[in-house]
Amino acid sequence: MSRLIVRGGTKLQGELEVYNAKNCVLALLAASILTEEKVILHKCPMIADVYSMIKILDDIGVKVEWQNDSLLIDSQLLNRYEISPNYAKEVRSSIFLMGSILGRLKKVNAVFPGGCDIGLRPIDLHLKGLRALNISIQEYGGYLYCDGQSAHGGAVHLDFPSVGATENIILASVLLDGITVITNVAKEPEIVALQDFLVAMGAHISGAGTSTIVVEGVKKLHGVEFTPIPDRIIAGTYLIAGAFTGGDLLIKNCRPQDMKALISKMDDCCGRITEYHDCIHIKSVPRPTSIKAIETQPFPGFPTDLQTQILALQTISNGVSMIVENIFETRFKHVAELTKLGADIVVRDRVALVRGVKTLRGAEVFAHDLRGGAALVLAGLRAEGQTVINNIRHIDRGYYKLDEALNSVGADIVREVDL
Ligand code: EPZ
Repeated sequence: MSRLIVRGGTKLQGELEVYNAKNCVLALLAASILTEEKVILHKCPMIADVYSMIKILDDIGVKVEWQNDSLLIDSQLLNRYEISPNYAKEVRSSIFLMGSILGRLKKVNAVFPGGCDIGLRPIDLHLKGLRALNISIQEYGGYLYCDGQSAHGGAVHLDFPSVGATENIILASVLLDGITVITNVAKEPEIVALQDFLVAMGAHISGAGTSTIVVEGVKKLHGVEFTPIPDRIIAGTYLIAGAFTGGDLLIKNCRPQDMKALISKMDDCCGRITEYHDCIHIKSVPRPTSIKAIETQPFPGFPTDLQTQILALQTISNGVSMIVENIFETRFKHVAELTKLGADIVVRDRVALVRGVKTLRGAEVFAHDLRGGAALVLAGLRAEGQTVINNIRHIDRGYYKLDEALNSVGADIVREVDL
């Protein structure tokens, strides 16, 4: 079990470069197998979830190679429609591979996917969407046996704008005969990027970023070179890190237009935030004012993936903050760990009430999931003394060398690896 030792008290100052988005790359990797021709994805993050997805693709006959930070995907020899249960349980993104394997091979067998333990993570919307395309799905023994031999375009309404279900249905429909209309879809920037990617491959899709996406099936897609979008969650993590330490940071290679919900919440409380075309500058105050209320919502609302980090920031802010987690049922596992550092938080169901304290004191804590782990690192930057964060494999799933990035702007973090 590896850990991070964070010594708090330094202000973060300097420039941080954001790399491209995990949740964009994972969707594009799934989409890449919809063509037999070569696909190249540039500037991809070398993080555990991407490696897990590469293992799943390799297991079904898709060749994926790194060339520096580009991924070269060749699925000409794609020959298996069984997603390996072992790998699938590592990452949630295995679920939307179902759509693209169905698109190519008209069949797929899969198990229920893995991913962060932040809720039940059901897949009913995925299955409802695939069945609306006349794909037959048998469920038994925890396995899903899907047959798309007679699949065709259809109409799908999502009860909830699920990111993964939106991606899965798009991937399953792009090579089908007929038109597919999906309503109440997710509007995340990663959905727009997926549409841009598939259109560049020759797909006929429109509407991404709005509530309705229309897909007109085509016979074939061709290879493409594409650069995924910057990671808005990493950029948000860095912004909050700046506010946590009273720092002065320029965050480069990000898209402020994708971060409006976070910026508007931080703007009045954390100091001066200046947005540029592809970067954000924060000159923060020594101690932020509490943000009175934050409710996580589907995009463009406040992102659930930044809830853990903004909640952590409230633990040292001046005042009281109420945070409501509307997306996932159990995404407050970081609260017990923050309390070990001296935070004053009460949780009832999906609501956390945070009363800011002047200081946090270092302690030994445990990461339980990706974004909760990141929140603990940020809290350690502020806490007096030393904070030891265990189970950092959760953090490494979605952050590429977070410790090294923060150390480059003044943090004092040591990574201890158990051999
Ligand atoms: C994606 O997960 C992201 N993961 C998550 O990021 C992110 O938190 C989430 O979208 C919301 O933005 C990837 O893209 C790999 P959802 P996903 O389907 O697709 C319910 C991170 O930290 N739901 O939009 O699984 C579900 O239970 C990760 O990078 C159903 O009820 O999210 C949840 O309450 C964590 N039935 C809500 O919808 C379904 O069939 C949102 O889930 C599917 C989802």
